[in-house]
Amino acid sequence: MATWLITGAAGFIGSNLGAHLLERGETVIGLDDFSTGTRDNVDRLAASAGARFRFHEGSILDPALVARSLLGVDVVVHLAAQVSVQRSFEDVAYTNAVNVAGFLEVHGAAEKAGVQRFIYASSCAVYGDNPALPLREETPPQPLSPYAVSKLVNEQYAEVLRLRCDKMDAIGLRFFNIYGPWQDHRGGYAAVIPRWIDACLRGERPIVFGDGGATRDFCFVGDLARVIETIGHNGAGGNFRVFNVGTGVATSLAELYAAIVGALGARGVKPPPEGPLHQPWRAGDIVHSRGSVERLRREIGIVPSTDLATGIGRILEEQYGLRP
Ligand SMILES: NC(=O)c1ccc[n+]([C@@H]2O[C@H](COP(=O)([O-])OP(=O)(O)OC[C@H]3O[C@@H](n4cnc5c(N)ncnc54)[C@H](O)[C@@H]3O)[C@@H](O)[C@H]2O)c1
Repeated sequence: MATWLITGAAGFIGSNLGAHLLERGETVIGLDDFSTGTRDNVDRLAASAGARFRFHEGSILDPALVARSLLGVDVVVHLAAQVSVQRSFEDVAYTNAVNVAGFLEVHGAAEKAGVQRFIYASSCAVYGDNPALPLREETPPQPLSPYAVSKLVNEQYAEVLRLRCDKMDAIGLRFFNIYGPWQDHRGGYAAVIPRWIDACLRGERPIVFGDGGATRDFCFVGDLARVIETIGHNGAGGNFRVFNVGTGVATSLAELYAAIVGALGARGVKPPPEGPLHQPWRAGDIVHSRGSVERLRREIGIVPSTDLATGIGRILEEQYGLRP
């Protein structure tokens, strides 16, 4: 058993990862400033684990707080970030402060504290709209937003900082479209699955941009948590320091809508009879995205495989109490 620090523990991925690790008997320390995360997410973790969960409220930009949070920690999972692509254009300096300076703060402090493994969230956004699918880790990055630049810079810093200290293993995970319970459905920046589920439950028509033909690689958050747990305990094999985390499967938005409607129908919820509301494709949005999971399979030996119907079912049950 290890002691884990999760930055961004009040967020969607952080709280699901925390719950997974606590269920496995690990000790988890959370750090979050609640800029997008919620107190409810932290309260759920605290309620489930008692003394094996501790929480520090504050920013990753506060060196004293970061140092305090790292006491006794074996593995850091650095998830805290300014996560919105749109906001990264509106507020480049803030995005850079949290995503680049914040990364360096946590990375440097972890190194000093003698942490063994430092696992951090990169993103499939580093690939931009490269049409060479599936996207492999070797595919040249082509960031199209300040957010994507910040994630790529994290990878580059992690690589060169190994020259300073090779005792801490830093591993970057390029998450594809992660979904699961407690993902925020509010606001213009919300991801598509929580937005559509919320709309259907309110009897409103979900908005689909384009004709529904755009595709994404949707990965269930519980699968991501298992990948992180495995790397935290066993490392990543030493050959590579960056991995895609997705399913390798492309799902069109039309198929996604059908899966949501099917999962709701199985639980007695009828979607709006008029179907989704189609709006014009938004300029700049990536049309097709799918990751190669071969490196993950080969080096880590675990590949996300929860199918969409099961994953959506888990959201409806855990978050909304809707059972078939
Ligand atoms: N959800 C996805 O599909 C996806 C895809 C690619 C990458 N990622 C990355 O995964 C990570 C987690 O994303 P998420 O979807 O859970 O988003 P989220 O917004 O739910 O979680 C981010 C958390 O970081 C916290 N945070 C932000 N700034 C902070 C600061 N200065 N100090 C302390 N805490 C701070 C927020 O309050 C929030 O709880 C992010 O790094 C994101 O870029 C997510």
